[in-house]
Amino acid sequence: MLDAHFALQDQKLLGDLSQLEVFVNGSFCRAEDAKISVWDHGLLYGDGIFEGIRAYQGGVFKLNAHLERLFESAKAIGMTLPYGLKELSEVVLETLKRNQLQDAHVRVLVTRGIGKPGVSPVSCVQPGLVIMAYPFPPLLGEKPARLITSSVQRKAPHSVDARVKSLNYLDNVLAKLQAICAGMDDAIMLDSTGCIAETTGANVFAVIRGSIHTPTLTAALPGITRHTVIQLAKEEGYSVTERPMTLGDLYVADEVFLTGTATEIAVVGEIDGRKIGEEKAGPVTSKLIRIYQDLVISGPDVTRIV
Ligand SMILES: Cc1ncc(COP(=O)(O)O)c(C=O)c1O
Repeated sequence: MLDAHFALQDQKLLGDLSQLEVFVNGSFCRAEDAKISVWDHGLLYGDGIFEGIRAYQGGVFKLNAHLERLFESAKAIGMTLPYGLKELSEVVLETLKRNQLQDAHVRVLVTRGIGKPGVSPVSCVQPGLVIMAYPFPPLLGEKPARLITSSVQRKAPHSVDARVKSLNYLDNVLAKLQAICAGMDDAIMLDSTGCIAETTGANVFAVIRGSIHTPTLTAALPGITRHTVIQLAKEEGYSVTERPMTLGDLYVADEVFLTGTATEIAVVGEIDGRKIGEEKAGPVTSKLIRIYQDLVISGPDVTRIV
């Protein structure tokens, strides 16, 4: 019998995370008691979408923007959500409240729902919905990140459009695994033309002679942090250029940093064995980090949990 191989309990693996209250298809339950159908196409085919959101000191940063992107992802994959943005945002806030979380990462997952076997989504009549919130430190830690370039290509726009934050992250997972096997923190993924797309979970920025450059969105998720950072950099008087970028642009940059909700603003210290900057946040990155940290706590786009 295979039982022994499955003896590892949620509790052992996840500790306190298994005790959190999660919202699953209409009601709250403990994470360890949550049930998802084995016929859900989200599980069978990775057919679904998600959002990653952050709360800071009792307020959710850019909640509406994240939920709007979720609705756009749904539309792009031909899925109609049977609820509105306001209802969804209420459940997000309720999830944080029930778990008494002031600082957390929130994951909103929408699956294609239960359906007959076979990739056709036609028999899936009701999308599944899972919302969970949990403590989550910055994804890449505090030290400057060491990156490699992955041989796994970001396939957008030939495959799934990069604007769709889909439940199918296998390309990114494999790229991350390459980085881990190489003893690095993360990987840069290139698009089909060899230009920089993004990392496995964040957008890329370079500071070159005082100006800020970031790859266009052909093969990169339109990150909400990316958009925020572009806006605040412009307000600070920096020139920001969105253009196709090569690895060479990054190798010779004065500063490179990554942006993402889970990642926040992460300093890059090394790419493919080349040292970047002074192995600590450069002047431009430091300034943007400071302003961003204020903005996520007390800016105009914060929804209080109350
Ligand atoms: C592949 C990828 N790129 C970029 C980002 C950054 O997007 P955002 O700033 O909206 O979190 C994410 C975030 O989850 C991501 O998964």
